[in-house]
Amino acid sequence: MNNKYELIYEGKAKKVFSHDDVDKVIIEFKDDATAFNALKKAKFEGKGKLNCLISARIFEFLIKKNIPTHFIELKNENTIIAQKIKVIPLEIVLRNTAYGSLCKQTTIRPGTDLAKPLIDFYLKNDELNDPLITKDRIELMNIISSNDLNLIVDLTLKINEILKIFFKNIQLRLIDFKLEFGYDSKNNILLGDEISPDNCRLWDLNQKNDTIVSLDKDRFRNDLGGLIEAYSEINRRINKVI
Ligand code: TMP
Repeated sequence: MNNKYELIYEGKAKKVFSHDDVDKVIIEFKDDATAFNALKKAKFEGKGKLNCLISARIFEFLIKKNIPTHFIELKNENTIIAQKIKVIPLEIVLRNTAYGSLCKQTTIRPGTDLAKPLIDFYLKNDELNDPLITKDRIELMNIISSNDLNLIVDLTLKINEILKIFFKNIQLRLIDFKLEFGYDSKNNILLGDEISPDNCRLWDLNQKNDTIVSLDKDRFRNDLGGLIEAYSEINRRINKVI
């Protein structure tokens, strides 16, 4: 990245740089992958570019469906321009099908279809290992108002309906995903971060039997191999329909 831009923040998978316009930022997607709060780390050449392209296409689609997001435009293959937001320190996970931590923490069997989407909140705090948090604790900590939390829940449910159809059209089943939101300079709530196979579980519907084929970061989390092949396949399917 051109050194005229200042590195404002470096996360596990992205770097955020300043922009000439103070209301904007430049976000660079890295090739690093982490799991279990960075206990497990690896680098996958080309992952940053794939996630950037996939996420850009999905954000463009959400914007067309009137979802307020931070995304402005692709700058190049692994960089986007976005609205600068004050990130709300919550991870909002929506689950359509039980998998992952839900099945480790309950007696619900992996692969169970949920009668209605389940929304779980996690506190974004690496030192505490991003713990599961309740609505009452969010209020107690004054993280956001209950009105804004309701707004975020409504937006998340709406995004789920849009994404379920988007992915079904490319033969993928949306199992669950994680979102992050923030406030822009006018205090509007915008969807931030990324939507990619790093933060969605996507199962291939092009399977003759019932075997689960994950085309997402579970390939790394569960040592399945073929992460770049899976992400490339998603990018290929998206570009075929758009
Ligand atoms: P979980 O089953 O591990 O709670 O994950 C649920 C979804 O959230 C899954 O699609 C992966 C995503 N996720 C993130 O994007 N970041 C995280 O730190 C975690 C724990 C999950």
